[in-house]
Amino acid sequence: MSEHHYLIRGGLEGRERLRVLGRVMRPTTLALLERAGVTSGMRVVDVGCGGGDVTFDLASLVGLTGSALGIDIDETKIELARADAEQVGVTNVEFRVGDLTDGLGEATYDAIYVRFVLTHLHDPQAAVDIMRRALRPGGRLIVEDIDFRGSFCEPEHPDFERYEEIYEESARRNGGDPWIALRVPAMLVAAGFARVQPNVVQPADLVGESKLMPALTLENIKATAIRHGVAGEEEIDRLVDVLYELAGDPRTYVANPRMVQVIGENAQPAD
Ligand SMILES: C[S@@+](CC[C@H](N)C(=O)[O-])C[C@H]1O[C@@H](n2cnc3c(N)ncnc32)[C@H](O)[C@@H]1O
Repeated sequence: MSEHHYLIRGGLEGRERLRVLGRVMRPTTLALLERAGVTSGMRVVDVGCGGGDVTFDLASLVGLTGSALGIDIDETKIELARADAEQVGVTNVEFRVGDLTDGLGEATYDAIYVRFVLTHLHDPQAAVDIMRRALRPGGRLIVEDIDFRGSFCEPEHPDFERYEEIYEESARRNGGDPWIALRVPAMLVAAGFARVQPNVVQPADLVGESKLMPALTLENIKATAIRHGVAGEEEIDRLVDVLYELAGDPRTYVANPRMVQVIGENAQPAD
């Protein structure tokens, strides 16, 4: 899968959106990693790691006796992540350019983390199978993904609804599934995972950074939405302005997509 087909803008601007998203998600992601038993000495991989926000948290959890590898198809994001690693002097982390669909090796890792990636893939079940094979028997797959149906704005606003429509339609025309989250638990069961534990989280607020996500997201899918004929530039620019206004209004309660966290244990022997 090439960068050309990815829904959300990559490179530097895409990285800045991920920094905000990373801060919004960090408390619930850290709680998830703890529940999944990510701990000192483990070999872990963060698939579709973007700028590596969670890869750094994984590196800190596994410590110097373990290692964290971040893989992403976006070369710019990987370069930025490498520069961040050098700057903070983290030595147990590595970032690599790579495509998940090309495989990850066999029975290699203690845990694999994958956030907001399956939603973009043409064949997410094949990706779950690939990750299962890359885990040692008993290793954990840890997934977070979105269900766009859960996002809301209260009071309701037609421009917010139009933003949801543009996102969902652009994602679909790009070969992804904006509602994938609710299907992920069954996908892990189908791939041969045991003790599959799903959990729902949803960043929603009257103030603060989570409210910026709809405007940032629409800005970053603009090129794809235009390419697929879902909306024009003028309409998107106007909607982005409205979404920033809603973010700044403390009477407006805005929720990001409902997110499902799933942990599964690889119950299969090494292939
Ligand atoms: C929405 S971002 C999420 C990044 C990161 N997981 C996070 O939560 O901050 C999705 C990432 O998946 C990467 N990606 C998409 N398809 C991929 C593939 N087939 N293999 C590896 N990375 C992929 C994109 O380049 C992008 O950085």
